Amino acid sequence: MTVTTLHEEIRELARTRDAVILAHNYQRPEVQDVADYVGDSLGLSRQAAATEADVIVFCGVHFMAETAAILSPEKTVLLPDLGAGCSLAASITGDQLREWKAKHSGAVVVSYVNTTADVKAETDYCCTSGNAQQVIEAVPEDQEILFLPDMYLGLWLERVTGRKLTIWLGECHVHAGIRPADIERWEREAPDAELLVHPECGCASQAMAFGSERTQILSTEKMVDYARRSPKQRFLVATETGILHRLEKEAPGKTFEPVREDAVCRFMKVTTLEKVRDSLVEMQHRITVEPEIADRARLAIERMVAIGA
Ligand code: 13P
Ligand code: SF4
Repeated sequence: MTVTTLHEEIRELARTRDAVILAHNYQRPEVQDVADYVGDSLGLSRQAAATEADVIVFCGVHFMAETAAILSPEKTVLLPDLGAGCSLAASITGDQLREWKAKHSGAVVVSYVNTTADVKAETDYCCTSGNAQQVIEAVPEDQEILFLPDMYLGLWLERVTGRKLTIWLGECHVHAGIRPADIERWEREAPDAELLVHPECGCASQAMAFGSERTQILSTEKMVDYARRSPKQRFLVATETGILHRLEKEAPGKTFEPVREDAVCRFMKVTTLEKVRDSLVEMQHRITVEPEIADRARLAIERMVAIGA
């Protein structure tokens, strides 16, 4: 079956099932193109909370579908492939967080959205890369903050907020692989280009040293906004390469090059058009969260959805 025919079949199925299709910026290009909304973790959570559709097909990874199920428990949330995990979310369990909290009584827990529902249930505030700075700034200055699970995002937050954080030593294998040496090569080979860096990258703190004239540390959606508005023509992009399709679509005529071509998240790429079609035909795979856990996790997620632009 051709991509066009599959695309049409999916759109028709979405109409008959009263489904909205949400896709993360790292999804395959053809999956992004069939979606009703493409965006970053924050934008997708906001869409999931606001949609009036009966069904949400989440073209992203498991923790994102779980977050949607917590925000909209009355809706049917479908993940086209259950293999869509996340190495960062797997870097801390609920039990590990409970042990960590016991050693830091009274601390406020700020969790990146890339965590399981069990971890979110132990969390005071969730955040995404799109609003992490504002979330940290919303916590009273005299309170200790346990920040988890991404250490590079945590280190970058310490620099931009001037706050000392107690940081969990987790990482995303894709972003951690984008190293300071990759940035140094860019500095030599493409001095005319502007650099867009995701704060989960292993090079994020070092990239700040180049100054805001040439380097922007941004969530994926903010990269899209920035590239649209910038007078610059050439950009180097330090994040998962799925974002390049979105950037090229939203800022036509500009040039986008990946800092590393191998920055590919295998979890984001398991979702194909065929699996999106099958998920709507079979109404699979339904993601639910136990009400007791969902009820404890909801406030932290609602705070995340409410804070920041
Ligand atoms: P965003 O916060 O830009 O969505 O990207 C983070 C990420 O790695 C999602 O898996
Ligand atoms: Fe998780 Fe990293 Fe993949 Fe994002 S890119 S889903 S953080 S493994």
